[in-house]
Amino acid sequence: MDKPQNIYDNEKFYKDYRDMREKGLNANELIEIPIMKDMLPDLKGKRILDLGCGNGGMSKYFIEKGAKSVLAIDLSSNMINEAKEKNNAENITYVVLGMEDISKIEGKFDIVFSSLAFHYVKDYDKLVKDIYNLLDENGILIYSQEHPIATASKYHKEMKSYIFLDEKRYYVVSNYNENGERKMFWNVDGVIKYHRNFSYTINTLIQNKYNLLEVRESTASEEAIKLNSKYENQNDRPYFLFIKASK
Ligand SMILES: C[S@@+](CC[C@H](N)C(=O)[O-])C[C@H]1O[C@@H](n2cnc3c(N)ncnc32)[C@H](O)[C@@H]1O
Repeated sequence: MDKPQNIYDNEKFYKDYRDMREKGLNANELIEIPIMKDMLPDLKGKRILDLGCGNGGMSKYFIEKGAKSVLAIDLSSNMINEAKEKNNAENITYVVLGMEDISKIEGKFDIVFSSLAFHYVKDYDKLVKDIYNLLDENGILIYSQEHPIATASKYHKEMKSYIFLDEKRYYVVSNYNENGERKMFWNVDGVIKYHRNFSYTINTLIQNKYNLLEVRESTASEEAIKLNSKYENQNDRPYFLFIKASK
């Protein structure tokens, strides 16, 4: 198996990403996290696996909401070190591990959670199979990813490319039905993500025996738009896709 790219351990990428998150008023804080929190069930007593946990902000939130334990993994040592520093708690275990290797994990989980990390994984079918095996009976998978209309284009010199027609901004979408690798500029050149169209994403879950519970696409609340008016663009081109499915 090819080694996954570990871009969060690239020092320039990591510094720019951390600065963006620390500045706040970003799409994670204003759009993605509120929707993910809204989709979570009652967390009391739950055993949770957080895939691509980043700096552990959500892992800590799970414990604050009464989760019994959290195993939080990430490919990047930078992110795991930051998580241990900023979001440590007695019942959270942070481990440097790729999502490609989660079949090595022992034990079962009530919730497998992942925020904006699945689009870095090449083999989505294997990933959802491995997660299925880690879920306890009636366990739930809740995850967010970049929306397929955002990952589709092969033109990625700019992150959010658009053109103006009749003075309105239109976003560029192309290559939508060509699933596979996309290389783009984000903080540094050559960041690898994987594009999968909507039907492949959903059908892979169905073929792996998941029951779909909820699918959402990002929208921005009035409050979010007040704090950062650029997120009005969620109406034109949502950044994120959210999926909740049970075993
Ligand atoms: C956009 S960040 C999101 C971090 C965190 N979930 C959050 O929402 O704050 C994506 C995270 O996925 C991690 N990641 C990327 N590829 C991975 C892989 N193959 N296995 C595990 N983690 C990975 C990155 O290191 C990074 O921490």
